[in-house]
Amino acid sequence: PVPSELTERILLHLESAEQADSLRLAEQFGIEHQKIVGAVKSIQAHGERLLDVESVTHKSLTLTEEGQAVAQSGSHEANVYAAVPEQGIGQAELLAAGGGNAKVGFSKAMSQGWLWLDKSVQPPLVRRKVATIVDQVREQLLQLAKLSDKDLADYKKRKLLQELSTKSLRISKGPEFSTTLTKLETDLTMEMLASGQWQQLKFKAYNFDALGATPTRGQLHPLLKVRTEFRQIFLEMGFSEMATNNYVEASFWNFDALFQPQQHPARDAHDTFFIKQPALCGPLPNDYVQRVSTVHSVGGYGSLGYGYKWQLAEAQKNLLRTHTTAVSARNLFQLANRAYGFKPAKYFSIDKVFRNETLDATHLAEFHQVEGVIAQAGLTLADLIGTLHEFFRKLGISQLRFKPTYNPYTEPSMEIYCYHGGLAKWIEVGNSGIFRPELVRPMGLPPDVNVLGWGLSLERPTMVKYGINNIRDLVGPKVDLKMVEDGPICRLDRD
Ligand code: PHE
Repeated sequence: PVPSELTERILLHLESAEQADSLRLAEQFGIEHQKIVGAVKSIQAHGERLLDVESVTHKSLTLTEEGQAVAQSGSHEANVYAAVPEQGIGQAELLAAGGGNAKVGFSKAMSQGWLWLDKSVQPPLVRRKVATIVDQVREQLLQLAKLSDKDLADYKKRKLLQELSTKSLRISKGPEFSTTLTKLETDLTMEMLASGQWQQLKFKAYNFDALGATPTRGQLHPLLKVRTEFRQIFLEMGFSEMATNNYVEASFWNFDALFQPQQHPARDAHDTFFIKQPALCGPLPNDYVQRVSTVHSVGGYGSLGYGYKWQLAEAQKNLLRTHTTAVSARNLFQLANRAYGFKPAKYFSIDKVFRNETLDATHLAEFHQVEGVIAQAGLTLADLIGTLHEFFRKLGISQLRFKPTYNPYTEPSMEIYCYHGGLAKWIEVGNSGIFRPELVRPMGLPPDVNVLGWGLSLERPTMVKYGINNIRDLVGPKVDLKMVEDGPICRLDRD
């Protein structure tokens, strides 16, 4: 992040100066060039027309290490020339004395016409051809400014010179120049949209190049930890987990199989997310669909039904499941139709469900449900109450109360309340009941078999256990990862 004083300093500087160069500013302010560039970018993020910025490239020539040696103690050819004495010297001896660069120096000195090879003696001698020389290479390297293009190319080729290019920004006032920056909004809120205020506000651009901070390790989200606790409790009690890996469900399993009439308000788009594509589900078990149709329209198994014309088209509508009881319905139907006959079963699930809710501090459009079902001959309401006591006792909750309620799929039905010591009051923690005959009998479960069920949200107890008051602090895009990181690995809060 660029400290705001730096952006301000640059803007104030530009107010008096017509133009500035980022490299010069860096020097003047005694600040790294990169920081100046960053500050200019951050000013530009506040408005593209605040500044006119142009990227410029500066080229500069510098001597290579070899070039510096030449500038200091002469070119290779001049050194070779100097090594040739008045009376001449053998070529091999000269090259041996001249060090690493003698070969280049010798051929350059020959082509310059400074030396010649006297072949009248054997072996031939290298002799001086001129009495004095001017070491032009050295002189040119000492004053780089006056180089011709040809010499420049030559010296670059000889690796005596290198060209460096540096980039800087040439900055001047833009048409909307100002020395103060308006605060940029980072969030588009519902209020801004409703009031139309969004049209006046300036929004911060996304930085798609930002690198995220590398986490040192992973942490389990509180929801996952509490899910593990629930799973553990169910497993201890002999339940097995149902497959919940289909968020998209047919209305049939979510509602019809559960004896929820097709005119029920929950089946409205105001409460349920229907799927546009594919809008309808695949094949459903025909005979069973027939029995469901009958029980809805004319009744059966001692029930009068609802007395309306049941429509297959309504049952085929795909939706995002609104409760995990849809999963329980599928599993109970399978249990009733096992190849080797019915067998008592205890099932559980913990997974996401979706409802078209108005979002607030305690409601999101998606949340998790924890659900248990038991199917066995001769079960009674006492079995349900006893099971719930055992289940909640394992969770650390021992004071329970039940209140009669209505569910389309259970009768009797009970809301579950527990005493919350911290809040010193009874709070609702779940819903339960005995599945209606209109639901279990068309599935084909034996007549003496009853099915108990209960459900609760995973978020509610997690919020209570982790002291979180707003559900949006627990799930969703605003979750503070620090909350996840700081959450205790284990809690010792059981009774
Ligand atoms: N499906 C119910 C809910 O959404 C919970 C429940 C499950 C109630 C099973 C009774 C039996 O609240």
